[in-house]
Order: sequence, then C-alpha cells, then structure tokens
Amino acid sequence: MEPKHCEARWQEEEYYYPSPDFIGQANCADSSVYDRFCLDNFPECFKEMAELLDWDKYWHTILDTSDAPCWKWFVGGKLNACYNCVDRHLKKYRNKTAIYFVPEPEEERILKITYQELWRRVNEMAALLQDFCGLKAGDRVTLHLPMTPELPITMLACARLGVIHSQVFAGFSGKACADRLVDAESEVLITMDVYYRAGSLLDHKQKADEAVKVAEEQGKKVKKVLIWQRYPGKYSSPTPLVEGRDFIVNDLLKNYYHKEVKPVSMPAEGTLFLMYTSGSTGKPKGVQHSIGGYLSYVTWMSKVIQDIHPEDVYWCMADIGWITGHSFVVYGPLALAASTVIYEGTPTYPDAERCWRIAEELGVNIFHTSPTAIRALRKAGEDLPLKYNYEFKHMTTVGEPIEPEVWRWYYKVIGKGKAVIVDTWWQTESGGFLCSTVPAIKPMKPGSAGPGVPGIHPVILDDEGNEIPPGSGKAGNLCIKNPWPGLMQTIWKDRERYVDTYYAKYCKNPKSKDWRDWPYMSGDAAVIAADGYVRILGRVDDVINVAGHRLGTKEIESAALTVEEIAEAAVVAVYDEIKGTVPHLYVSLKPGYDPSDEIAKKVTDAVCDIVGKIAKPAKVFIVPDMPKTRSGKILRRILAAISNKKEDLGDITTLSNPHVIEEIKRLVHG
Ligand code: PRX
Repeated sequence: MEPKHCEARWQEEEYYYPSPDFIGQANCADSSVYDRFCLDNFPECFKEMAELLDWDKYWHTILDTSDAPCWKWFVGGKLNACYNCVDRHLKKYRNKTAIYFVPEPEEERILKITYQELWRRVNEMAALLQDFCGLKAGDRVTLHLPMTPELPITMLACARLGVIHSQVFAGFSGKACADRLVDAESEVLITMDVYYRAGSLLDHKQKADEAVKVAEEQGKKVKKVLIWQRYPGKYSSPTPLVEGRDFIVNDLLKNYYHKEVKPVSMPAEGTLFLMYTSGSTGKPKGVQHSIGGYLSYVTWMSKVIQDIHPEDVYWCMADIGWITGHSFVVYGPLALAASTVIYEGTPTYPDAERCWRIAEELGVNIFHTSPTAIRALRKAGEDLPLKYNYEFKHMTTVGEPIEPEVWRWYYKVIGKGKAVIVDTWWQTESGGFLCSTVPAIKPMKPGSAGPGVPGIHPVILDDEGNEIPPGSGKAGNLCIKNPWPGLMQTIWKDRERYVDTYYAKYCKNPKSKDWRDWPYMSGDAAVIAADGYVRILGRVDDVINVAGHRLGTKEIESAALTVEEIAEAAVVAVYDEIKGTVPHLYVSLKPGYDPSDEIAKKVTDAVCDIVGKIAKPAKVFIVPDMPKTRSGKILRRILAAISNKKEDLGDITTLSNPHVIEEIKRLVHG
C-alpha cells in the first residue's frame, strides 16, 4: 500500500515545555499515568476512565472479547449519557453556564444556558420525542442541524431516551443527508429552518425536503420532519411546510413545558450515536459508538489531555456535525461540567478578529481548532490576536498535520507564548484521542502529534506486518496494538466492512478471541521518532482531507459520473496553502462530446449538489484520456503528481497510454 501525497516534509524539531503555572493547575501532572496504563495493566487500567462517570449499576466485566473484534466494554454496567452530562451537575453547578451560544451576526448578543436551563430544555425535548414521535430506546433519529444550542439539546434528549442520534453535518447536501438517513433507517428527521454562515441567512429547510424526497426514492419513508426555528416564534425559511409531515418544534414544545422524563438506564454497550464518515467506497460508513465506553473515554481525555476543569470556558471551533464536535464540544466538556462555547458561523466573519473578540468577551481559556483555521487566521494578519486581552492556558490542534512554522505562530501569537499546545491525532472511529502529549508531562514538538495517549499503544507496521522500530525514519501503516473503550463498536449493519477495513490486513487468525491478534489499522501512514512521537503523513486509502474534513474520493467521483457527458472521473489531493489539501477533479468525456466550460460547471454543480459545498473541486480538468495501467486501472498518483507540479511523476512504465501525460500536463500547467 503506497502512502499518497505524504512525503516527510519535516526535520526533527526542538521541544517546547509547559510553564510551571500550567503544570501547577493541571488535572494530570504525574507521569505515573503512563505506568498505570502500560500494556501489562491492560484492560484493567481503563477502570479509571469508567470511574469518572455515574453508573446506575456498576459493570462486572471490563472487556468482553468473545465477539472479537467487536469489543464490549464495561459489560453489565448501566448508565445514561444525558444524566452524566446534565443531571448530575445540578446539585453543584445548577446556575453555572453550560453552553454559551455565539450567533454569527454580532448584533445578536451571546446567549447563556445554565445547567438548570439545559436540563429543562432537554427534558421537554425528550418528552416531545417520546410522546409526539413515539421514539424509544434503540430507535434511530437523523439530525441535520447547524451550530446552535438546539443541536446538543436534541442530542442529549435522544441520549436521555436511549434513542440513537445520527447527526449529519449541516453543510452536507439534502441528498447526502438522505443516504445516511436511509442507512440508519430513521423515520424522523430533525432540522432547522435557517442559519447564518459567512453573513448569509441560509435556507436549510429546503435540504430536508430534498432529503425526504431522495429517501423515498430509495424506499424509506420519513414519517415526521421536526423543524427548529432559528428565531423562536418565527418561521424564517421561504420553503413551505408540508402538511401532516412537517412540524415546528418550538410550537410542539408548548405542550411539553415543565415535563420531566426520567433518564432511561441503558446498558454500557448500548449505542449512543452513529457518525457517518468517508471510506474507500462511495458509501459512507455509519461509525457506531457505545454509551459507556465512548463516554468514559471522552470524559477522561477531556480531563487529562484537554485539561478541562469545571471553571474553564472551553471553545472548540469544530462543527458538532463532525466527531470532534460530538466528543469535544458536547459530550466531554459537559460530562465535566465545563462551559462549552458554540459559535454559529465562520471564524473570519465579519473579520479575522472575531475569534479574539469572542475569546475576550467570554473569558475563554481553552481553545481548540484546526490547522486550516490557524492558517487562515495567520494569513489575515500576523499580529491581530496580540491586540486582545484573552488568556489561553491550553490550545488544541486537530484534523490534519500542522506545519511546524504554523505551529510556532499558533504558539507565539494566538497562545502568546503562554498556552500549552496539544496536537491530537485521532479519527471518527476512535471516539477520542489516540496520539497526543499529556500537556503537563510531555514537552511539545511542533508538527508531531506526540506519543500514544495513556492506554494507547501505537505501532508502525510494514506491508508484511513487521514492526518498523521507532527512530528508524521509515514510514508505514500506523496501527494500534490494543482496543480501547472509545473505539467504535462496528460499522452500522456492516460488520464485514468493519472487519475488512480495520483488521483484515494484519489479523493472522480471524477466529481468535485474543485482542493481541487484532491490531487496529488506522488508514494513516506515519513515522515514529526515537522519542516515540508520531508524525502523521496522511491517508493511505481513498480518503482525502480538505480543510480537516474527511472526504471520500469515490463519493466525489460518483457524483461527477452522474453528469451525462462524463465517462470517467478521478479525484486527487493537491497541496493548498490554507486548506492543507484541496480536490482536483479529472474527468474524461464519453464519445461524441467536446470539452467545454459548461460541462466543467455541470460537474462542479453535481458534486456540490450530491455531496455538499465542502467537496467542491478547486479545479475540474477535462482530459482526453486518463493515465491507465494495462489492466485499465486509473493511476491517480500520476494525476496527483501533475497537479502538485512534481517534476518526478514516479514509475510510468506500467502505463498503457504514456502519450496522454504530456497532453494532461499542458492542460493543467497551461
Ligand atoms: O488522516 C488523519 C487526519 O484526519 C483523519 C481522521 O479524520 P476524521 O475521522 O474526520 O476525524 C477528524 C478529527 C479527529 C485521520 O485519519 N488527522 C486527524 N487528526 C490529525 C490528523 N492528521 C494529522 N494530525 C492530526 N492531529
């Protein structure tokens, strides 16, 4: 397997050390944590994570491997995730802010929701879901909600009932939402009328109509569409309601004011949510996360790696529609009774100083974002953050590799040389962090994610399954030797794909019930330095990372192929100064058609319409033919080399049509 677009561009970097002030207040400053979580103590060490939660019934078996590799954690235990994120804090923190909502328009002032209010609103929503929709534990509900408090309120209301939520990123199209809804077999879709993004009030309800239509074409009838109003009391979308199917949540809630719903006591190995993510085929995978294992894991990571204390104001800029938002905007911070910030819009709206005004106004002291956002903020003005009086103790970077130079700017300017940084490497599948420093214990190294977090034992394997030792400078497939409580349970309704994708390559005995036989293959290429720090080089599968968002090349290619004129399509990732990488889309036409701007536009529109605007190709090239092997396989790596302006295109001896290369180069480079 050849790692794509992933040469090691970096040299060894110098360490940066946390300040004594940070260490003095840190939740975990004792390096014995690494001893406690050593492999010899596996799996008992994870008890420490479960103990951060309140259990209705304590578990009897920490790890059940009888259905390997579908691991069951904390078996016999019962708990409720909503209770752990809300109810249990009331005694001590009733009047403390749970959620700060920052609307994008600055003239709409910041909304504060206390734990008491959150509890009220979640109870009322749970009552509505139970009585009006007839939902019960184990049912799935698809959410297509933007970044407003109604999203965590809905998620927590589902969790209270044991209903499995499946939130689809609001930036995805109605069709993308439909595919996920059909796979999850949801009968209820919950959405919002409108929301703000980059200064525009977007009509979001129209996507629900599209989603219901497409789902119906695929044989799934959506019985109810629940619509939250962005401005309560006023329906703001130009798209009309469909009688008998569409219901305004804010109106329905009037029937449930002051209703209370007892949190349903759920088995630890029940399912909390599905999160669809991209893989090697066109069909997104429904990554299935457990209640007890997932929540224990994210709570512990929030405490130890994010260093969240209840008195902290924590701002993770990720959208809740991605795993980072689930784990580190909603579940982790709320389980620890912190105040979590939800910002509706774009970080640079109306100007690049918006973030710092928010941080200053709210007294944010933990800040969590992606390299793409950091690069964009830096480009907008190298010194702007220094004008503001916020004080961060801790900052996180996540989602894509960060260049050491960008890291240093993050540290010196956004962190003012005071805040520690954790570079956290993980995935939708992992639930929480896999590699990162424990910030008060290990020094930072720009561009490296750090060693495995306590309890995670990374290893680099070559294609034959041999271990590549740390410090050898050789890249290989980054794997994790052991299972962990935050790891997905399976892929929804597709155990075979789960086993194939993550274990088939390295499991020597598929019948084994011993976890040692099942190293988890992450799909990333990486190098481990002599100090154990991991540098991520990029994906080895057909996944590209655009601005920290994970997209499947096959999803984009299949969208392009819906355009009548298109015969073949190939997507490649191209280096971009701000977004890390962006997609270039190569297409060839069916006989009888001539290339035109109009066809290129049709292709772009199809991708935006079918996948969503985040997948919009930066360029579409209509080529006379694709570079192919003699067996007809498109050699994407050659297209990637051309798009990335590489002199060396690699091995081209296997090409059946080498003459196309010059033509493609002329098209791309002019
Ligand atoms: O390639 C890695 C990259 O993002 C992928 C996971 O994407 P997703 O499931 O959407 O989850 C994103 C948030 C955790 C990984 O396989 N990635 C994630 N974090 C980092 C990273 N690449 C480099 N450094 C990171 N810190």
